[in-house]
Amino acid sequence: MSYRQLERLADGHIGVIGLGKLGRRIALRLYQEGYPVIGSARHGMELEGIETTTDNSYLAEKSSIIVVAVKQPDFFQVAEEIRAYADGKLLLSAMAAFELAGIDNTLPARNARIMTNLEYARGNGSSGYCLGSRCTAMDEIAIQEILSAGGDCYRLREEEMRDMTLDSGCALGFVAKVTEYFLAASDQLGMLKSLSQKQKRRIYGRLLIGIGSAMLDGKDPSEIAVSVASKGGMTEAGYKKMEQWGMREAILETYHMALERERELQELLKGLDKNNG
Ligand SMILES: NC(=O)c1ccc[n+]([C@@H]2O[C@H](COP(=O)([O-])OP(=O)(O)OC[C@H]3O[C@@H](n4cnc5c(N)ncnc54)[C@H](OP(=O)(O)O)[C@@H]3O)[C@@H](O)[C@H]2O)c1
Repeated sequence: MSYRQLERLADGHIGVIGLGKLGRRIALRLYQEGYPVIGSARHGMELEGIETTTDNSYLAEKSSIIVVAVKQPDFFQVAEEIRAYADGKLLLSAMAAFELAGIDNTLPARNARIMTNLEYARGNGSSGYCLGSRCTAMDEIAIQEILSAGGDCYRLREEEMRDMTLDSGCALGFVAKVTEYFLAASDQLGMLKSLSQKQKRRIYGRLLIGIGSAMLDGKDPSEIAVSVASKGGMTEAGYKKMEQWGMREAILETYHMALERERELQELLKGLDKNNG
């Protein structure tokens, strides 16, 4: 019997605390995949088909699995509200940079960390998880089911959760940003004027799907790049300029910057942890 069937028998809900950019996508995906879901938002929110509340205690009482998708500093308030019901529950923290030790010190739940990206909503997410010391083998099955509902899922060491935040969470934004630059360049040069913006976005959308599906088939992006360019042609001329203008270094610096911010966030959280401890 799968965890989902066990939970249904026990009438346990998956409670998602924080229905912001990430939380509402997790809640909706799980609901669409047939899980009993309840969500909470500080200022209230309606989500089609899903019970929502502003009362985290009520959500915690009703749920056997709690997903925390609030910004890190808001966690301590949430912890106060759910503490009475946390014992015996599986708690999945989606918060970046928030280490398990801090969560374990704050709540007596079976705590684990998960990391995903916004494409979870469409089933194209890449997610990682790491288990806390109180988690059981059944908890791991539940986590794998929940994360697989939105795409691929990998078990990681805790120190790799930061890497997953970058390679899955942030990278989705970075690749979108680079795509935005390509579209802006096309506009700036006045290309494809007879097409609407929507049609131009479709061209890049198809292109990204193409690269994505080739990569899912096991191709390395460098193979795709090589196969596109012919010797002495337009694409090859473009590649040369990309190297010359330091695109590779710019991306490396982008990662360095994000890692630096992660370290700052961790320091900030350690301070908050002490004040709340
Ligand atoms: N965005 C991503 O792509 C992504 C990816 C991976 C992980 N994460 C992690 O997910 C967490 C949320 O990020 P986000 O981008 O979704 O932020 P967000 O859009 O700001 O959402 C956070 C939500 O939490 C709600 N909230 C705050 N305190 C609450 C409380 N006491 N009870 C119930 N809800 C409460 C906020 O409600 P109000 O607006 O009403 O205050 C807001 O809707 C962060 O820790 C982040 O590290 C995000």
